[in-house]
Amino acid sequence: MSKNIARKVYNISVIGAGHVGLVTASCLADLGHKVCCMDNDSAKIDLLQKGEIPIYEPGLKELVSTNTLQGNLFFTNSMEEAVVHGEVIFIAVGTPPKESGEADLSYVENVAREIAQLMDSYKLIVEKSTVPVETGEKVKNTINLYIEKDVPFDVASNPEFLREGSAIHDFMHPDRVVIGVDSERAERVLTEIYGPLNAPIIITDIKSAELIKHASNSFLAMKISFINAVSRICEKVGADVEKVAQGIGLDKRIGQEFLKAGIGFGGSCFPKDLDAFIHIAENLGYDFKLLKEVKRINEEQKRLAVQKIKDVLWIIKDKKIAIWGGAFKPETDDIRGAPVIDIINELLNEGATVSLYDPQAMENLKIIFGEKLHYADDKYQAIEDADCLVIVTEWDEFRNIDFDFLRQRMKLPFIVDGRNIFSLQKLQDKGFIYCGFGRPQITNSKSGVKK
Ligand code: UGA
Repeated sequence: MSKNIARKVYNISVIGAGHVGLVTASCLADLGHKVCCMDNDSAKIDLLQKGEIPIYEPGLKELVSTNTLQGNLFFTNSMEEAVVHGEVIFIAVGTPPKESGEADLSYVENVAREIAQLMDSYKLIVEKSTVPVETGEKVKNTINLYIEKDVPFDVASNPEFLREGSAIHDFMHPDRVVIGVDSERAERVLTEIYGPLNAPIIITDIKSAELIKHASNSFLAMKISFINAVSRICEKVGADVEKVAQGIGLDKRIGQEFLKAGIGFGGSCFPKDLDAFIHIAENLGYDFKLLKEVKRINEEQKRLAVQKIKDVLWIIKDKKIAIWGGAFKPETDDIRGAPVIDIINELLNEGATVSLYDPQAMENLKIIFGEKLHYADDKYQAIEDADCLVIVTEWDEFRNIDFDFLRQRMKLPFIVDGRNIFSLQKLQDKGFIYCGFGRPQITNSKSGVKK
């Protein structure tokens, strides 16, 4: 159990056992609260009740099993059980994008309606899912509309900033906790719940808290697209974006993080949240052109990966392209919005053969690509006789490579490094043709088809 124990134990329910819901429920249980985690997907709940975790997130399995054994955490598919149990109810259901980019809030509305019909004592209903500004007000209106018993309630916004792959650490050691409330009672309860984390707590009104989440993700995405735009200039003049990023990032006002150039951002959050924020702004009469450009630059980076292969191989029909990494980032099996999807589709359209290896995401990739690819058992099998290796995800196991072995086994010693993980000097010494992103290209004279 966490060393930071709650001074007052709350009965808490978390609705939605996705990435955010499951991590939130487990971490709150680890702080000592009695937590019910509810999802209407019975198959998922069955798995969780057996101690199995439907997603890959380092440390989560252990956290769930310890807290289940200690009686602090249990799973159910009954909304009634969840509403009766929780004095505080976190809504962590999905808010998927509609065709237009606008967030689909029907799951949130549905949960609000069900809570209203089932609640029989005071409830604090907390938005945890990423939602557009003014959703809190709509949740409140919905509850007022459907409430059956005359009991008081509060609505609050408490956006989550955890990242997949380091979710437990991020939950337990946040840079800040944002609490958007409009009552003293709600403020007190949430401050008591998060107090043990010893993080700065920002208390705001509900709308500001909602905006903080979309503004944060958009700003981080903007940093990535900014450095990717700078990387294009670096390429034109033969400068190294890694050095440029270091040089600007050491300025404390800018900061080093989220300045890694490459094939761009993916995932279930940045692309979706950018679209949603652009849409929210549009609805409010503001054309957020800056964010549209952030999105455009990101799309371009993915196309650039294939262009870099073509620049060297010219024709890629019937060439074997090995890909290392498919997950949208390391330490996750998540491929939602992953750049690899567009890259593979483009390679297949051009008639290339693709051989793929990822340490965790293979099963998810098979669901999308089926028989269209070769799925390698390990990284070295993937590159056997390949004309090019593309690094898509910077898993640690791709960083320490036997380049001599790679050179022997590939048809051509040619690497497109979508995450700039390799040293230019090393690749030069080993005789590779190397295309990073925003770095000087190595066109090695020692390259050539293996004998
Ligand atoms: C992101 C935010 O970082 C979290 O704070 C937020 O809670 C979460 O979205 C959410 O809204 O739920 P996540 O999507 O898990 O977290 O992943 P990140 O670590 O932020 O990475 C997002 C993408 O940006 C990845 O594809 C990564 O490869 C890419 N990236 C990141 C870069 O291309 N360059 C960088 O410098 C950093």
